[in-house]
Amino acid sequence: MPNNHQFSPLPPWPRTDYCGNLRESDAGREVGLWGWVAARRDHGGLIFIDLRDREGIVQLVFNPERAAAAHRIADQARAEYYLAVRGAVVRRTPATINAELPTGAIEIVVAQAQILNPSWPMPLQLDESADEQLRLKYRYLDLRRPAMQRNLRTRHQAVRGAREFLDGQGFVEIETPILWRATPEGARDYLVPSRVNPGRFYALPQSPQLLKQILMVGGFDRYYQIARCFRDEDLRANRQPEFTQIDIEMTGPRIEDVMAIGQGMMASMFRRAAGIELELPFPRLEYEEAMERFGSDKPDLRFGIELRNFTSAFAGTQFRIFADVLARNESIYGIAMPPDLQLARRELDELAESLRSRYSMGLAWVRVAEPDWQGPIARHLSATERARVTETAALKGGETVLMVAGPAANVRPVLGEIRLNLAARFNLRKADERRFLWVTDFPLFEYSPEERRLVSVNHPFTAPHPEDLGLLDSDPLAMHALAYDLVLNGEELGGGSIRIHNRELQLRVFEKLGLTRESATEKFGFLLDALSYGAPPHGGIAFGVERITMLLCGADSIRDVMAFPKTQKAVDLMSGAPSEVGIEQLRELGIKVIT
Ligand code: AMO
Repeated sequence: MPNNHQFSPLPPWPRTDYCGNLRESDAGREVGLWGWVAARRDHGGLIFIDLRDREGIVQLVFNPERAAAAHRIADQARAEYYLAVRGAVVRRTPATINAELPTGAIEIVVAQAQILNPSWPMPLQLDESADEQLRLKYRYLDLRRPAMQRNLRTRHQAVRGAREFLDGQGFVEIETPILWRATPEGARDYLVPSRVNPGRFYALPQSPQLLKQILMVGGFDRYYQIARCFRDEDLRANRQPEFTQIDIEMTGPRIEDVMAIGQGMMASMFRRAAGIELELPFPRLEYEEAMERFGSDKPDLRFGIELRNFTSAFAGTQFRIFADVLARNESIYGIAMPPDLQLARRELDELAESLRSRYSMGLAWVRVAEPDWQGPIARHLSATERARVTETAALKGGETVLMVAGPAANVRPVLGEIRLNLAARFNLRKADERRFLWVTDFPLFEYSPEERRLVSVNHPFTAPHPEDLGLLDSDPLAMHALAYDLVLNGEELGGGSIRIHNRELQLRVFEKLGLTRESATEKFGFLLDALSYGAPPHGGIAFGVERITMLLCGADSIRDVMAFPKTQKAVDLMSGAPSEVGIEQLRELGIKVIT
């Protein structure tokens, strides 16, 4: 192992440039560069080193005749040694120009070199092929990769674009506390024990939701924050326990005003980070229509194959399975796959099997063939039913119709998922196409069978549609919310709502959610009180910085747009967090670990 204990002084020459910035126009200049050895080629006389820094790579040439001492340094250098060099920028001969590299027309003929720090042999290959566990353990090495450098800088530019836009619109950036109380956003809380208040805990905010509302009561009128949020929930490719929101709140907006700010900000972010001009305004779709046509509240609009409602096509059917479903007042939905997108029989069987095992649902399919329809249910379909199915799905012949029957609330999302899988199977999603949309008019409540009560679809502070207020006691599930989500290519980028600014209405909504007046006052007394002192109407939205950056970078994983992400098991592999703590520390906090 190289000796790392020697502490090298800085070289006597200054660093003048970044490696990756040098161009043909720099030829003839004398430069000082620092960087890591990305590659080294020993040609028996000349040694070539690709030196890498944050801007990219440049080729160094060490000539034993012209600079013997520097050549000896190059001889010792190995992968990821940190070098300082001084030399001249020289044009390459036409035959040696590397058109792949931005610096490929020149090279540095090195006069002096110094090893500022050697490196232990690399534990991983610095490219995409490296195992992710290793990449996360040695994150400081992984971050040197050009792709990671690019992603984090894209993120920086995107946030900068957001700040520029919001600053220009009169929003004030205000920080809210991290050590605070639970804010219900539907996940579990991370708790922090209080040493000076034994037995009491802070909760890390799942979002600054209540604090930003209180800032409106406090008179700031327009607020934003690049806010860290913490949610203890099951992690997925687009979720982390700790993530960043661009959090926005404004006084007195209509839904359209929040949308104008949200899409203006998004345009500024895309312009700043990627030089892309977005077309505004983004289209809008009501929640019910999104579910009916796409089986999802965040539809990917880059491809068609929309859902069809075949319920009325089968009115009076003799086909037992469908007749039973209709007798229960349930529905039949389907997808018609066009003739050029056909699944093999084996794929249809696999799909049917996966629906059966995962959802206990059957898949009924027919192929619209000549002279007769084919498939397991074809012989059960009467001529009238075939005519109605043909009309409903505008069939022209050659399609395969996939149908699922059951309660609409269950069937539509399942078909929505099938729709996405088919798009993946047939490669229907164009990577460079961007289809933004606002989804509006969400239901206010939904029923949670696990908790056996109503829960908020958004969060409990979302205002009901004024026209639906009369339904609060009679039919709360039919109420709509003044809530909206921003969706891009099937990914939810942000969500928000107009809020309840009236104490009594907030209490009644809490009651519907199963919170008595007493427990509501105990948990949210500060909010209810704040609403009681001339609270102005207000509303806002929050966007996920990582999700936006993922789409800007074309990254598949949220971990590739964060400097120090956690694994699916919420572990930081580099530091080993979360870690055990000493008994003394626990005693001081009054905590006993029981597992
Ligand atoms: P919501 O819970 O919809 O709304 O969150 C807003 C946006 O934050 C992002 N996001 C996440 N990103 C990464 N990992 C996570 N675990 C995660 N959870 C959410 C998503 C999401 O659209 N207080 C409300 C906003 C409001 O009403 O103003 C809220 O937090 O991109």
